[in-house]
Amino acid sequence: MSSTDLSPAEAQEASLAYAEMFISDNEAARKARKASADLGVSPVSRGAAQTLTFLARTIAAQSVVEIGTGAGVSALALFAGMRRDGILTSIDSQVDHHLTAREMLTNAGIKYQRFRLISGEALSVLPKLADESYDLVFIDADPMEYPEYLEQALRILRRGGIVALYHVLLGGTVADRDNYAEKTLIVRDCLDAIRGLDELTSTLLPLGDGLLAGIKN
Ligand SMILES: C[S@@+](CC[C@H](N)C(=O)[O-])C[C@H]1O[C@@H](n2cnc3c(N)ncnc32)[C@H](O)[C@@H]1O
Repeated sequence: MSSTDLSPAEAQEASLAYAEMFISDNEAARKARKASADLGVSPVSRGAAQTLTFLARTIAAQSVVEIGTGAGVSALALFAGMRRDGILTSIDSQVDHHLTAREMLTNAGIKYQRFRLISGEALSVLPKLADESYDLVFIDADPMEYPEYLEQALRILRRGGIVALYHVLLGGTVADRDNYAEKTLIVRDCLDAIRGLDELTSTLLPLGDGLLAGIKN
């Protein structure tokens, strides 16, 4: 079958798969993906990881907050785009996830002074972070809490900073208007709210489980 024989749906699927695989994982990312699987954590896809690197590099991010460290796949992607003196503050409720992420970051050659792993509930930790002090906030923890994470992210981001949210398509359920599951409704409402915010210029990318990125105007 030649490519012209693909149906529109097949062509779209093939293009998405190509975009996802466009940039290869390096060795550190491969190890962190393996560690994620061992912990039962779902990391950002390759395409989403590369987009995080791109976003961090675009604004020369120096101070970054991550909500949901997991085993460190997205942290490595963020570091790949951040300034060489950039510092990542990453929050996770699971201490064992932080132990693994610390190992992944250290093995990747990232100096311990450049990351601050805060173990705790995101909604307890975030209010302690200072207003308008961060260049980029990446959200990838509990989708049920996305509206609160977003509110906190907009508070702590400087003007010109970027907020990115992963898992915003929730396995296709967000796009399915007949799906009224609580988690789906919360994330869909959150996306609707983002669309209406003058404060953000946003884009929704169908990479992995969906990556929303917005720049604070
Ligand atoms: C999908 S994983 C993060 C994956 C990571 N961003 C990556 O790409 O490698 C979600 C993480 O959020 C953490 N988490 C879930 N609910 C949380 C909460 N309420 N507060 C802080 N962390 C939470 C989980 O322990 C888990 O490690």
